[in-house]
Amino acid sequence: MARKVILDVDPGIDDAMALCMALFDPELEVVAVTAVGGNCSPEQATRNVQAVIEQLDPPRWPRLGAASPPDDGLPVDGRHLYGADGLGDTNFDVAERQHLHPSEKVICDQVRDASEGSVTILALGPLTNIARAMARDPDLNALIGQIVMMGGAVSGPGNITPAAEFNVYCDPVSAQAVFRSRSTKTLVPLDVTNRVVLNYDIFNRLPDVSTKVGRFLRKILPSAFRGYRRQFGLEGIHVHDTVALTAVTHPELFSTEEMAGDVETLGELTAGMTVFDRRQAPTWRHNMDVVTDMQTDKVTDVIISRINAAAARAG
Ligand code: RIB
Ligand code: CA
Repeated sequence: MARKVILDVDPGIDDAMALCMALFDPELEVVAVTAVGGNCSPEQATRNVQAVIEQLDPPRWPRLGAASPPDDGLPVDGRHLYGADGLGDTNFDVAERQHLHPSEKVICDQVRDASEGSVTILALGPLTNIARAMARDPDLNALIGQIVMMGGAVSGPGNITPAAEFNVYCDPVSAQAVFRSRSTKTLVPLDVTNRVVLNYDIFNRLPDVSTKVGRFLRKILPSAFRGYRRQFGLEGIHVHDTVALTAVTHPELFSTEEMAGDVETLGELTAGMTVFDRRQAPTWRHNMDVVTDMQTDKVTDVIISRINAAAARAG
């Protein structure tokens, strides 16, 4: 029985790579892909979700959700890494689809339509939609199986500020609401996702342009390499969201630790910082599992092999 997942994404090149893997994974049933602003505006994220689905044309099209701005607006976007359109300035055409429901409504509907505890929400962007879905349906936390979030940092620095990771920084109030919710949560933080760096050799290992997945990835990835060189002086790219997806499909390659985590929402220098009570005598209640280690080389190999397997299935 395939595992039901909802992917909440702010595509974003690493989000798009995770979608390539998930949409053609026979062990996953992607029941919905819901857009959230972050790497690009909410409107662009909604357009990009449609574009990725149309470019990849999976055997079963998931329900799509439309993004809307967080209550306090987006403080930043990801154009410095992923271009103005979020997908390497590829500006894919999209068919004008029928009106899409809001992402938070799609999340609530899909969780309620499935049997209790059977849906995993993989949150790969800011947590705006997840918090809104919880506010929309107070019983949702008891019905969701698990929320796996790419975000935050435990011991290491942030990436968008010295203190904050991008997804949490974009909407710290929503992140705090989700962290404090009584749902079953796993966090995949930068401490771990930063350890997978794809270098230019990836272009020798990707599926070729005779496949939809190969064509799509070869269109969007070069821009990410340019962005990482320009921004970080790095001759390679992180793929945070594909690491988080791999933590769902291959948990045996990851180690987790129960922690008590929260989010700073007000700090002038620390807004969006994730804070964990790791004192000798902690007083905060454990509220999530945090990925603390992984078999990096095996995870990297799984990402590449699953992309090629996706290409073979997609044609
Ligand atoms: O900090 C990395 C995260 O922020 C990734 O999910 C990336 O796509 C951006 O959303
Ligand atoms: Ca993302």
